[in-house]
Amino acid sequence: MKVHVNGIDLAYSDEGQGHPIVFLHAFPLDRTMWAPQVEGLKDHYRIITIDLRGHGESDAPMWRYTFEQFADDIKGLLDHLSISHATCVGLSMGGYIFFALYKKYPHLIHSAVLADTRAEADTENVKAARYSMAQIAYTRGATAIADLMLPKLLAPGSLETRKDIVDQLRQMISANQVSGIVGDLMAMEERPDSSPLLKEFRFPTLILVGEHDCASPPEEVKRMAQHIPGSHVALIPQAGHLSNLENPEAFNLALTQFLEDLPAVEEAMEAEQRRSVQMKEGIDGGELLFLKNPLDGIKKCLEIKGFDNDISRTNFFCNPKNVYISKPPDMATTSTRNLMREKNGKASQPRVTEKEERGIGMFPFISGNLPKIEDLYHSPF
Ligand code: MLT
Repeated sequence: MKVHVNGIDLAYSDEGQGHPIVFLHAFPLDRTMWAPQVEGLKDHYRIITIDLRGHGESDAPMWRYTFEQFADDIKGLLDHLSISHATCVGLSMGGYIFFALYKKYPHLIHSAVLADTRAEADTENVKAARYSMAQIAYTRGATAIADLMLPKLLAPGSLETRKDIVDQLRQMISANQVSGIVGDLMAMEERPDSSPLLKEFRFPTLILVGEHDCASPPEEVKRMAQHIPGSHVALIPQAGHLSNLENPEAFNLALTQFLEDLPAVEEAMEAEQRRSVQMKEGIDGGELLFLKNPLDGIKKCLEIKGFDNDISRTNFFCNPKNVYISKPPDMATTSTRNLMREKNGKASQPRVTEKEERGIGMFPFISGNLPKIEDLYHSPF
């Protein structure tokens, strides 16, 4: 299937039903690299695979590519499919694109699986290698890129014994247009360091890595995982960089176990909406504080308990992302009460009135306005 988004025709597949899982492929491959995962999961989940800009059946415009642009393409497709929240699985370059997607559209992320990837930007040596590979693509075409990439993508054992995978990959890489290959190389070369984002992740994250991956060695990948709160790592045996293709059984097992443990997103969102409505009742002029870091949340709860001495009228609840604290009008801060007076009872947009520290925001409730969950996720903290 194809959809016209962000100025190009983007090819994708949409199979199965249920919780959506979006797969982001590696360089310089296409969505067919996910065939074993589609087969293994489509009976239980909705599986979206995408030929990223410049790959497979999607357009490969001759232009500068950026990962922000890839993120816009994905957002356009998900809007078209009415998907507002998904598990994203990114392998290698797919992981780099995941970081850009999270940065620009954090509310789209329900949970993440990052396979054989890294958060750091390219070193100077790697940047130089990107330029020489781009030059080879221009002068000798996509087949020469297949020759160069195969030993990087596969473990030595797979390269020698798995003729089926070698042939599949050679065909996939050779089918690419040079504009797409070069576009990717430049986007990778320019990508920023995403390491500072890792500690912000407030969604379930699984990290996978092939035990013989030379491009993103297990030790480096494990170090990345240490910065992601609550993440866990599964080593895929007998696999190199393309762990999903080289050992699909182990990859799918780790993925399925992770997915089975996830709380159903729709239920969580609905419950959150219900609780917001309950909080709103009878507390016009009260406040909702939300704290992205559960530890800040606990600190704040203790603080409020200590100062207000009336914990019975303060509601606390949390979801996997945030802790929320609601306070009735007489316990609201002066700034919210002033805002109430200013608005004189008229409806206003929920607005953040205080920023005590990063990760803490406050929405006043004024005359019939509830902060929408979307606003909370979009908050500037
Ligand atoms: C990939 O598999 O996507 C590439 O190895 C990424 C890279 O070259 O950094």
